[in-house]
Amino acid sequence: MSYKYIKFEVEDHVALITVNRPKALNALNSDTLREIEKAVEDIASDDSIYIMVFTGEGKSFVAGADIGEMKGFTAEEARRFAKLGHQVFNRISSLCKPSIAAINGYALGGGCELALACDIRIASNKVRMGQPEVGLGITPGFGATKRLVEVVGQAKAKELIFTGEYLNAEEALKIGLVNKVVDMDELMPVTMKMAQTMASKAQLALRYSKLAIEQSIYADHQTASHIETSAFALCFANEDQKEGMSAFLEKRNPDFKCK
Ligand code: CAA
Repeated sequence: MSYKYIKFEVEDHVALITVNRPKALNALNSDTLREIEKAVEDIASDDSIYIMVFTGEGKSFVAGADIGEMKGFTAEEARRFAKLGHQVFNRISSLCKPSIAAINGYALGGGCELALACDIRIASNKVRMGQPEVGLGITPGFGATKRLVEVVGQAKAKELIFTGEYLNAEEALKIGLVNKVVDMDELMPVTMKMAQTMASKAQLALRYSKLAIEQSIYADHQTASHIETSAFALCFANEDQKEGMSAFLEKRNPDFKCK
């Protein structure tokens, strides 16, 4: 499939999805969401892709859902639009392959929510992040009332959603909304280096780790122990565990095979 609103590139097991509507600051319209969904499905079914990275073209990561498209929605159309956003972002967060958001500029509304759907967020020092929806007469629609609370806690999430105020990079780092802040020209090198570090590890172990974390977030301790015990045991059913441990004992680099 050729894409109109995103760029989709793959190199060394890492897929890079660049939202590419710079004139609209990469605002997410329905077609852009569908293109992202298609790209994520391709990543899910391609064994040679281990890690996915999201970024934006130009000065914005994503400046939110497309206000021009939403303005005339009926309640039913708004429900379908929000459902589409949730469907796409849930697919990103639930896919066992890890995701990194390389946040290059505005990450507002649906843009902040796209970053929140990723496992890791790396921000340039130029970012502005926030949930301005209440200033438009709406609630967040693509997951912030859940994921923002999970990431920064209820009090900070409420403050951000109720005031609509934007955070700069240092403020976002301070509340744990992003993992790290780097200079703009370091954003993609640092992101790709992290992606390559992940890609060099045993992929099944990495995916089981992600699944265990996701499934344990709201589990009680006993259930979480059970999930981790099972994930740990399952690793011993594939050859990468033998290879990883042999390589350590033989003082050489491991050569992982399981995709
Ligand atoms: N939807 C549609 N178009 C958008 C947009 C959006 N979210 N954000 C920016 N644009 C468009 C502008 O309309 C403008 O288009 P024209 O050149 O055709 O006029 C173009 O992008 C450039 O924008 P600005 O001229 O406004 O650029 P700026 O540098 O002066 O300001 C900004 C940048 C502060 C990010 C400002 O564009 C802005 O406030 N954007 C809207 C941010 C927002 O409210 N996002 C939340 C949307 S609602 C949502 O996301 C709901 C949800 O949870 C799903």
